[in-house]
Amino acid sequence: MRIIGIETSCDDTGAAIFDDRLGLLAHATFHQFETHAPFGGVVPELASRDHARKLLLLLQHVIEKANILTSSISGIAYTAGPGLAGALLVGAAFARTLGYAWQIPTIGVHHMEGHLLAPLLEDATPPFPFLALLVSGGHTLLVEVQTLGEYQILGESLDDAAGEAFDKIAKLLGLSYPGGPLLEQLAKEGHPNRFTFPRPLTEKPGLNFSFSGLKTFTMNTLKATQQTHQDKADIAREFQEAVVDTLLIKCQRAIKATGIHSLVVAGGVGANQRLRQKLSELSEHTNTAIYYPRLEFCTDNGAMIAYAGYQRLKMGFHDDLEIIVRPRWGMDTLKKS
Ligand code: KG4
Ligand code: ZN
Repeated sequence: MRIIGIETSCDDTGAAIFDDRLGLLAHATFHQFETHAPFGGVVPELASRDHARKLLLLLQHVIEKANILTSSISGIAYTAGPGLAGALLVGAAFARTLGYAWQIPTIGVHHMEGHLLAPLLEDATPPFPFLALLVSGGHTLLVEVQTLGEYQILGESLDDAAGEAFDKIAKLLGLSYPGGPLLEQLAKEGHPNRFTFPRPLTEKPGLNFSFSGLKTFTMNTLKATQQTHQDKADIAREFQEAVVDTLLIKCQRAIKATGIHSLVVAGGVGANQRLRQKLSELSEHTNTAIYYPRLEFCTDNGAMIAYAGYQRLKMGFHDDLEIIVRPRWGMDTLKKS
């Protein structure tokens, strides 16, 4: 089976080709950073236009890179949700049209299932069951994965996602978009222990997250300073420590509650080096193996969609020609057969 993967849920256009015998043949991502940076965040209408402009070119490029005949392609997977409705529709309409023209099946994939399965594209893969911490711009989820398609949500964010909180605080600190990686850089210049930030919802039992109170706390802390470069760096550092610690505490709880000692960490915030450093400490003292996708597959990409689509098609799923997207779509509603 040879599957095309198409990702257009937010501000990255992704295309890839996965082959069940040869693995990933080619992949490419077009980031729309320049389009959205002047606005300090993603402008949905502009995101859709960029996807429409780039998708065909990107796919042509990937097919050339893989050096394959289009007649050897047996299916097309695209992100059907969750995400921005207009952006999703560009990918969905494109994939369905191509599938119809080529008379091959198309399958709508859940974006977070794509993130969750991304580490399975690497050499060392987690054994089932495993836990997954999915931390992106739109979601913060702790999931128990019994098997492919069987996902139990153990905890989720009650308000802002971890990546969203990073982006909002970055904006407040005067950083460009997307703020997460820039905030991480600024935090390296911060001095430790100047402020004490809360670790939200860690005093209470449970595995849910909440980052909006931490956001307000950070905003108030900044306002109480002169807002010099050093003030901002110190605040960035403490904010990052608070988010990372909070994620760590919940992962540790999930490991203890389930007895599962394999943890997948995926989604854009999974690229954060401080998070990875602290997760490796957690790995040692809880005897837990941690699995990441390669860095470029932490953020949105077509490879994870091609892989998730391949697994879904193999499981016997297929969609009809109707173009449907699901901007809101609970991961726990997915089925395994
Ligand atoms: O998974 P992703 O590419 O898109 C969504 O599905 O949302 O995640 C993007 C999010 C953004 O909020 C971005 O700021 C954040 O991941 N991010 C980071 C880092 N790299 C990306 N946050 C913190 N540290 C990073 N190094
Ligand atoms: Zn994502």
